[in-house]
Amino acid sequence: MDKYEIVKTLPTPCYVIDEEALIKNLITLKSVEQRTGCHVLLAQKAFSSYSVYPLIAKYISGTTASGLFEARLAYEEMGNRQIHVFSPAYKDEDFDELLDICDHIVFNSFGQWKHFREKALSHGGAEFGLRVNPEYSEIETDIYNPCFRNSRLGITLENFEENEIDGISGLHFHTMCEQGAETLERTLRYVEEKFGKYLYRMKWLNFGGGHHITKPDYNVDKLVELINHIKNKYNVEVYIEPGEAVAIDAGFLITTVLDLTKNGMDLAIVDTSAACHMPDVLEMPYRPLIVGSELPYVLPHTYRLGAPTCLAGDVIGDYSFENALRIGEKLIFTDMAMYSIVKNNTFNGMPLPSIYLLKTDGRTELIKQFGYEDFKRRL
Ligand SMILES: Cc1ncc(COP(=O)(O)O)c(C=O)c1O
Repeated sequence: MDKYEIVKTLPTPCYVIDEEALIKNLITLKSVEQRTGCHVLLAQKAFSSYSVYPLIAKYISGTTASGLFEARLAYEEMGNRQIHVFSPAYKDEDFDELLDICDHIVFNSFGQWKHFREKALSHGGAEFGLRVNPEYSEIETDIYNPCFRNSRLGITLENFEENEIDGISGLHFHTMCEQGAETLERTLRYVEEKFGKYLYRMKWLNFGGGHHITKPDYNVDKLVELINHIKNKYNVEVYIEPGEAVAIDAGFLITTVLDLTKNGMDLAIVDTSAACHMPDVLEMPYRPLIVGSELPYVLPHTYRLGAPTCLAGDVIGDYSFENALRIGEKLIFTDMAMYSIVKNNTFNGMPLPSIYLLKTDGRTELIKQFGYEDFKRRL
């Protein structure tokens, strides 16, 4: 049986993490570490399926977290690897634990740094950084652009208090989303022009995430060149914290056709939901791919796929197929490991999809199964 036949045997809805694809991504990321001596960290916000953290730990330096919970997850599940954290603002009650478990804690403002500085420096162990905003980004959608006008993310040069950086070991920027090394190159020019003078006083620079390193057309040689340039010029360690690049194309969401109806076109209702199980389809928005389908009207049978929820706009997209769909037939959405599992919800009482691992030897392993109690417990 091929991969698709195997995953179609599973009860739906379910996510399937594809171990082989994950390893392929990790090998590429590890090669960047090996060629540059930089450190690659998994941004857990994109993918936190910790049952594969031991596998990830074999290839890359560690993880980064968006706050205490993700940091703790890495601490509990990834063993002895680096843990970094950045949050736009930390709470007093979380800070002691972060100090105990994190290697790097990155602050978003001088206000936060000054608030926690004394406690931070007296702790010993962790290193501290500041997120800067180079005011340059090539992201066109504001919701994903940390450099949009009046953004709260990162310190602009105008607000950089150069007399307050004693105790700070590194700088961090995150300004990219699904972009290539050419974008990084243009971004670094701004980072260097604005903050280069401070980099000479630092131990590290973190390039953030948004690097599409494991996409086939990504220019890994250029990334290597840019990392080496920064390392050599400023004598700093370089960190990158991709989320997507770790888990890209490393998972499926399997669904079953529940009903077929018509309203000006053929409609199919499936047992999954854009709003609940793949919210980026509505938020980004984008049209996920289905194995064996094409754009509408390319193949003989076109359907609009929608969810069994009340939300009129809970439409996944329009797809054409070689054969007419049948009730009970299973469909496979691709690239569903990242930003889907971490973002899902039970709106309308929709069941959460189970999570399976498709092992390299073709066996499937049930990682998590959810039921009514999971829905009820959160309410
Ligand atoms: C600070 C930071 N680091 C890393 C990432 C990971 O980005 P990506 O999944 O696009 O690589 C994000 C995403 O929002 C981020 O905000």
